[in-house]
Amino acid sequence: MLETNNLGVAELKVEGKTIELPLFEGSEGEKAIDIRALRKETGCVTYDPGFVNTGCCKSEITYIDGEKGILRYRGYDINDLAEKCEFVDVAYLLIHGVLPSKTQHEEFSTLLNTHSLLHEDMRHFFNSFPDHAHPMATLSAMAVSLSSFYPELEDTSKQENIDYKVTRLLSKMRTAAAFSYKKSIGHPIVQPRHDLKYCENFLNMMFSTPVNNYQVDPVVSKALNKLLILHADHEQNCSASVVKMVGSSDANLYASISAGICALWGPLHGGANQHVIEMLEKIIVEDGGNVKKVIERAKDKNDSFRLMGVGHRVYKSYDPRAKVAKQMCKDVLAQLGVSDPLVDLAQELEAAVLADDYFQSRNLYPNIDFYTGLTYRAMGIPTDMFTVMFAIGRIPGWISQWLEMKEDPHGRIGRPRQIYTGPTKRAVS
Ligand code: CMC
Repeated sequence: MLETNNLGVAELKVEGKTIELPLFEGSEGEKAIDIRALRKETGCVTYDPGFVNTGCCKSEITYIDGEKGILRYRGYDINDLAEKCEFVDVAYLLIHGVLPSKTQHEEFSTLLNTHSLLHEDMRHFFNSFPDHAHPMATLSAMAVSLSSFYPELEDTSKQENIDYKVTRLLSKMRTAAAFSYKKSIGHPIVQPRHDLKYCENFLNMMFSTPVNNYQVDPVVSKALNKLLILHADHEQNCSASVVKMVGSSDANLYASISAGICALWGPLHGGANQHVIEMLEKIIVEDGGNVKKVIERAKDKNDSFRLMGVGHRVYKSYDPRAKVAKQMCKDVLAQLGVSDPLVDLAQELEAAVLADDYFQSRNLYPNIDFYTGLTYRAMGIPTDMFTVMFAIGRIPGWISQWLEMKEDPHGRIGRPRQIYTGPTKRAVS
């Protein structure tokens, strides 16, 4: 890990007492005040709902500059990675810190193939879920159940175990995701194939049936690689923080990832990609395509409605992932010869957002989820699988964040404080 720069001290005056708190700076110039001694020195805690100003760790995995719209994994720009890499290489990069050599790529791919099968007993779980079960519920249950099927991998002290665990999760979660889709439409499951690459394998498990000879379209597999790369990590977001919080109690990796999947499901986080499409469909069906009406609703403080796929906690300029996703959406639809009225509507809505003072003054721009769902739709992925796609992409990020947390010499169990505002002591009469 690169050393942080020491910038001297910040002075804080609390009830007449001045204390000094160390100041330091990360490798890209992010300044921080080390408040670890704050409560001991002053008796005060900090109040920061939603952790808007709280740096919970030092990390060398992902860098975001929300003002400039920059996103880098391990120093590599997201555009560069999305353009030139396969998803498995980016997964390797996030987990191991370097892009794989040809040999490392092959070894990693072999491990992914070796671990792609689901235990037969696990496969029977799918039959116990109702057909209408949301695939995110199924995926989360599958993730945590892996710990029961492979308990020997609980020990992360051995590098060998980490590699097995990592590839098991990446590979089996993809298989489980495809199985959950097949189950939801009542089709027989399709087993993974060793002759197919990671993304092609997933597409084959999704779309192959006993009565068709499914051929993976290279346009679709390239798009899937790109989309998964865009999803692969986003530093201390809600789901990554949940993964780390669960892992900080020494719960195993599978349990931690399962919790992360649940966090991602929420519509304010990864679930937004599904909600964007549902919102666009509603605008057509219920409002006759009236974008102005929807914009007014989103601005109305008496209405809880928000524009899905718009706004971000960190990005105060255009989300760099959304830029790639928007261009890709246009390219993929053109290459596949698909025309979708929802894409035109999305573009109209985006133009209205960018031109409106409410959104401008709050720095609200389309985020990654605004255009990704439209691309998944053109690729034939059903709407309720969109967040599952996000989860498959995010697994390497969660794993790398979890592993980094485990190795952090300053790591402790996650346990925020509160400011109690309830009744003071009283007796039961
Ligand atoms: N539509 C209308 N107003 C909005 C929106 C929106 N989508 N997003 C934020 N605002 C307003 C909000 O009402 C507030 O206004 P005011 O200052 O007048 O009270 C202001 O902008 C700041 O919003 P906030 O809720 O304090 O911002 P946050 O950082 O807590 O929330 C967010 C970020 C992503 C949850 C929020 O922008 C949102 O709900 N967006 C829609 C859901 C969405 O697309 N989520 C996917 C995020 S990207 C994928 C991922 O990484 O998770």
